[in-house]
Amino acid sequence: MKTLIIIRPDSVLRGLVGEILTRFEKHGIRIAGLKVMQLDKEIAGRLYEIHKGKPFYDSLLNTMIESPVVIAVLDTDVLDNQSAIALVRRIVGATDPSKAEMGTIRGDFGLRIDMNIIHASDSVEAAAREIPIFFRKEELVKYKC
Ligand code: PPS
Repeated sequence: MKTLIIIRPDSVLRGLVGEILTRFEKHGIRIAGLKVMQLDKEIAGRLYEIHKGKPFYDSLLNTMIESPVVIAVLDTDVLDNQSAIALVRRIVGATDPSKAEMGTIRGDFGLRIDMNIIHASDSVEAAAREIPIFFRKEELVKYKC
């Protein structure tokens, strides 16, 4: 399956893009799509539409549009869907960096819940909904081996 990650604005500014992508690549996960993008409220709102109305919604949207993000579609086709989501989530770590295990991306680089480095689709359904917000089909590659 394919899943989406977004390296948040503050992580891009901190120069963490290469380190974060490397963590996935070292597991054998491949990059099927990659772009640098300045999000606006409309597109960030589509990503986070299920959180509309929650107390953190406005601040979440604002942090995502501060400066450019790096968005990647990760290819985990060698795994079944549940294993793929579980592995990506494990590499990313718990939402709150203070609770994330050391060795995970958020555990190693995150500071607070609103500075948690990266967004990652949290289910097969979420990935299927989120990828088309940012990528057209023809922008994603397929690996033959
Ligand atoms: S919930 O309520 O359980 O559905 O929320 P959760 O899945 O934990 O988080 C949803 C996304 O909101 C971000 N989040 C926050 N941002 C800023 N401030 C606060 N307090 C906060 N709490 C949660 C969280 O990182 C999730 O964003 P993504 O991009 O999916 O990681």
